[in-house]
Amino acid sequence: MIRAVLIATCIFAQWATAQHMDVEKTVGPDECGECHKSEMAVWKETKHHKSFFELTRSEEGRKIAEKMGIKRIKRESDCLDCHFTSVKVDDVVKPIAGTSCESCHGAARDWINVHNDYGGKDIKKEQESPEHRTQRITKAGQLGMLRPESLYDVAQNCYQCHSVPNERLVNEGGHTAGSAFELVAWSQGEIRHNFLHSDDPENNRPTSVERQRMMLLVGQALDLEYGLRGTAKATVKADYAVAMAKRTQLAMLRIKKILETQPVPELQQMLDATTAVELKLNHAEELEAAANQIAELARQLSANYDGSTFAALDAMLPAADTYKGKPSP
Ligand code: HEC
Ligand code: HEC
Ligand code: HEC
Ligand code: HEC
Repeated sequence: MIRAVLIATCIFAQWATAQHMDVEKTVGPDECGECHKSEMAVWKETKHHKSFFELTRSEEGRKIAEKMGIKRIKRESDCLDCHFTSVKVDDVVKPIAGTSCESCHGAARDWINVHNDYGGKDIKKEQESPEHRTQRITKAGQLGMLRPESLYDVAQNCYQCHSVPNERLVNEGGHTAGSAFELVAWSQGEIRHNFLHSDDPENNRPTSVERQRMMLLVGQALDLEYGLRGTAKATVKADYAVAMAKRTQLAMLRIKKILETQPVPELQQMLDATTAVELKLNHAEELEAAANQIAELARQLSANYDGSTFAALDAMLPAADTYKGKPSP
């Protein structure tokens, strides 16, 4: 029994995500910008960045806050987790930016000086041994870095915020019940920052077609997972519960359509796990269990394939004119 609990705890520790970022470990985007100038320039043009300045001034924002009984949006409020990045200064939690680098790549205090250390001050990237590289990447991951290569780990942050899993915020606050989010379209528009791993690092090109195929699949899996997690939290039949059940059902339909074109065993198993549970109120345990099963399958999906064998999906990839927001050059 104790062993089972320990194992469960370890698994959850591994699943640590960025959204409820540890404020004590958050360094803020300016630190990243010291080296990542191109990524920083892109981020400054996004709504994620601008929300920090605009949310408190927005009429809609004030209305939501009022209905929630929140006096100051930037103080101790429910809005902080998704709209802002906060750090702790003298024991006070202080929002310093909008949704930023660490919201997607993980709070960085512990890994920032590990992820770029090729083995000493004078050692350049080209001189790093393969063993050191593996060690460095593993260590940064253990310390909380969410690397783009682990697509599931980075992308699950999007869905944690964009599914808006907060019943009171939606039903009483009148906040939108989640974005109509699709990972390729939403990551290749204004969010896109593709320099380091691109064969054209001078220009911010879309990510490779193989990677887009993986984004299409992993994105649908995450939509399903977070639709179920959201439904699990539903206690009353109102906008929130309806939106979450709909999110789940739409993801199921899209996955069925994908499977007609491209059989993928992990996706089929996700569909089966979802069909086996009822999407109803106050049914948290079963729904969460199904969501956990899907999370595990989605991690496998993300790790087992590189997209090169999924050319059949190309007709389903969102076209460039549907990307969300304008990409920075
Ligand atoms: C002192 C310079 C420096 C700072 C500060 C820095 N980085 Fe990096 N970062 C690098 C270098 C160099 C690389 C390339 C590492 C490699 O070759 O694997 C990198 C790589 C990355 C990658 C890609 C990793 C991969 O394997 O694909 C991400 C993501 C990243 N950094 C995020 C951040 C974030 C977020 C911050 C701020 C919290 C940050 N970095 C701060 C220098 C820096
Ligand atoms: C669980 C995450 C989450 C929380 C908590 C949250 N929001 Fe949002 N909010 C979002 C997302 C995601 C969007 C973008 C929705 C879309 O795609 O249209 C958004 C959009 C908005 C918008 C419309 C866009 C804009 O900035 O003008 C307003 C206003 C807003 N939120 C206000 C608030 C307020 C006020 C609070 C706190 C009471 C809050 N939100 C809490 C996730 C959240
Ligand atoms: C910490 C929470 C959080 C995370 C993580 C997050 N977002 Fe957002 N995102 C928001 C909020 C809040 C808004 C609305 C900002 C506003 O308008 O004030 C938003 C807005 C956006 C927009 C602009 C939408 C529009 O209406 O034009 C895009 C595109 C977007 N997010 C994509 C992504 C992608 C892709 C990911 C993951 C790689 C992601 N987001 C991760 C909270 C988040
Ligand atoms: C909304 C979530 C989100 C935010 C905010 C974000 N990233 Fe990323 N980042 C991603 C995703 C997703 C990828 C992988 C994209 C792909 O494969 O096409 C990525 C890739 C990267 C890479 C590797 C590719 C490259 O451009 O070199 C680096 C480095 C990086 N991010 C650094 C940063 C830094 C620094 C910031 C803040 C200035 C930041 N990111 C903000 C989600 C985000």
